[in-house]
Amino acid sequence: MDRRIVVSPLTGSLGAVVSGIDIGKDLSNAEFDQIHQAFNDHGAIFFRDQELTHQEQIDFARRFGELEVHPIVNGMEDYPEIIKVLKPAGESASFGTGWHSDNSFFEKPSLGSVLYGVTIPPHGGDTLFANQYMAYDALSEGMKALLDGLVAVHSAGPAYTSETAKEKYEGKTPITYRWSDTVNEETEHPVVRTHPETGRKALYVNQMFTQRFKDMTVAESQPLLQYLYAHCTKPDFCCRFRWEPKSVALWDNRCVQHYAIDDYRSYERVMYRTTIMGDRPV
Ligand code: SIN
Repeated sequence: MDRRIVVSPLTGSLGAVVSGIDIGKDLSNAEFDQIHQAFNDHGAIFFRDQELTHQEQIDFARRFGELEVHPIVNGMEDYPEIIKVLKPAGESASFGTGWHSDNSFFEKPSLGSVLYGVTIPPHGGDTLFANQYMAYDALSEGMKALLDGLVAVHSAGPAYTSETAKEKYEGKTPITYRWSDTVNEETEHPVVRTHPETGRKALYVNQMFTQRFKDMTVAESQPLLQYLYAHCTKPDFCCRFRWEPKSVALWDNRCVQHYAIDDYRSYERVMYRTTIMGDRPV
């Protein structure tokens, strides 16, 4: 018998807590359809009190599509599809701190991400999410017309070659990197993309991975990009998720950006992330 799933919106912009379901147990097609609908309706959905093995997390994420093995960030030895997002006590957070859409530098960027929280600081370490449909809808008709024709160049380069990244390639940090050609590659995506499932238009540029507009220099691109970065993360378009041990967040990278807040230096935080393969943005 299907369980009674309740979807409770978290804010007026995006995010909803989904209760009444253990996502690690076999989900019927009807149950999965309700979760999928909540995902499309709210952009980011959250589950509390979930007991998940690594395999159960993988199985849940796979209901949405094939999983990625990150080309730069090392996955777990036995579960290469899972990145252990570990921040030891005494260090500052260095994964996802900055607004971004996961892996927008891929030719086919991530559809969604499933993050499972295991060790959570007593306070701090929340994650912010921003609704990129709302960000697009709030623009003037003139700006929409301008952006609808623009293409942006994305690359992992600057984010994965910063001074702090060096130690990660040397394997000296809790999260480690391996060198890959992906670091130097550039990919082009429309600045406004149409979500393949909802048909809605979303802004698709982010501060971490977007470098410039196609056929323009960095200097020419920056003023408009900086405007868009400030615009698309306005508090009006955001929700903030307070983690508890055993919480799960699932967000849609096609219409949502996120930011891992670095405000819990004294505490450890341990999360497990899987990312789902997406389509080429159009
Ligand atoms: C991420 O960017 O995937 C990490 C988010 C978080 O740790 O809150």
